Amino acid sequence: MKKYKLAIVGATGLVGRTVMKVLEEKKLPIEKYGLFASEKSAGEKFNLLGKEYTVSKLDEHSFDEGFDFAIFSAGGDVSKKYGPIAASKGCIVVDNSSYFRMDENVPLVVPEVNMKDAYDNHGIIANPNCSTIQAMLPLKALDDKYKIKRVVYSTYQACSGAGRNGLVDLLNVDGSKPLQKFPHPIYDNCLPHIDVFLDNGYTKEEMKMINETRKILHRPDLKITATTVRVPVSNSHSESINIEFENDFDLNDLITTLNNFPNLVVVDDPKNNLYPLAREATGHDEVFVGRIRRDDSVPYGVNIWVVADNIRKGAASNAVQIVEKLIEKEQ
Ligand SMILES: NC(=O)c1ccc[n+]([C@@H]2O[C@H](COP(=O)([O-])OP(=O)(O)OC[C@H]3O[C@@H](n4cnc5c(N)ncnc54)[C@H](OP(=O)(O)O)[C@@H]3O)[C@@H](O)[C@H]2O)c1
Repeated sequence: MKKYKLAIVGATGLVGRTVMKVLEEKKLPIEKYGLFASEKSAGEKFNLLGKEYTVSKLDEHSFDEGFDFAIFSAGGDVSKKYGPIAASKGCIVVDNSSYFRMDENVPLVVPEVNMKDAYDNHGIIANPNCSTIQAMLPLKALDDKYKIKRVVYSTYQACSGAGRNGLVDLLNVDGSKPLQKFPHPIYDNCLPHIDVFLDNGYTKEEMKMINETRKILHRPDLKITATTVRVPVSNSHSESINIEFENDFDLNDLITTLNNFPNLVVVDDPKNNLYPLAREATGHDEVFVGRIRRDDSVPYGVNIWVVADNIRKGAASNAVQIVEKLIEKEQ
C-alpha cells in the first residue's frame, strides 16, 4: 500500500491542532507529516502518531520535499500566496480559508454531498465555510427528494469559529482586558455581525453561506437568505433553517430521509427535551438535526435545527475526510 506525505499549514491554530487530532484518530496511510506556521510558533513541538515533529516557519521552499497533500488553515493571505506554490509542486491542497472557494476552477467539497467534484481538482480543493458545511448534509438529502425552492438561514455561531482570539474574548467576562477579535463584548451578548459588512448590507459570512450553498448543491439560482449571529458559546454552531420545497412531503418520510443520509443524525424528541445541542455536538464529526416541524405559513415548508462541531466537521474533519477519500480512490 502506498504511503503518503502530508503538510499541515497553520498547525498551531485551533483548526490545525484539530486536524492533527483527527489524523490521530483516522490512522491514514501517511508516513510523514510536515508542520508549518508563522515565525512566531516556529520551533514548537507536537507529538503526532507517536513521533515528535517540530513546527517550521512557512516559506516558498516548504513544499520542496514533495508532499502529496497539504491541509491549509492559516487564513486567506497564506492560502493565496502558498496554495499555488504547493500545488505547483504536485501537492493536493485542501484549503480551509475562503480565498479559493468561489473560484470556478476550484471544487468546493463536503464529502457526503459532492465528493465527485473533488476528483476533478487542479491541485486545490476548497473546504467550505463552517456554517455552510453543516447545513449541506440536510439540504442535500432534502433537495434530492423534494427539490428546494427557498432557504432562510439564521445561525447561532460559536466563538471558536473566530479562532483562538474569539475564545479569548469569550473568557473576558468582566471586560477588563482589551477585545482581541470582536467589535463588542461577546460575553452575555449576541453579535449579528460575523466577518465584514458588504455594500448590500449583508456580512461576508452571510454571503458565503448563500454563494457556497448554491455552488455545492449545483443550484446556482436557489433562493437563499441568511442572518449569521455570534453567540457566547465556546464551540459548535447551531442553525435554524427554514426550507420551502417545490413538492409536497410527508413529515415522517422527510425525517426518515434525513436519518438515512450519511453522518446525519436525527435527535428529535421534544417531549423528552431531546434536540441537538452545541455542548453535545462538540467532539463529534456527525451533523445533528432536530426540531423538525412543518412550516404552515407556506404550502410545502419545514423548519429544522442543525448543530455540528464547527472546528471538526466545520473545518478539520471535513478536510481530513477529503484527503481520506482521495487516498481511498487511489489505493
Ligand atoms: N475556527 C473555525 O471554526 C474555522 C472553520 C472553518 C475554517 N476556518 C479557517 O481556518 C483558518 C484557521 O482558523 P483558526 O480558527 O485555526 O485560526 P487560529 O486559531 O487563529 O490559527 C491561525 C493559524 O494560522 C497560522 N498563521 C498565521 N499567519 C501565518 C503565516 N503568515 N504563515 C504561516 N502560518 C500562519 C498561525 O500560526 P502561529 O501560531 O505562528 O500564529 C496558526 O497556526 C482560517 O482561514 C479560518 O477562516 C476556521
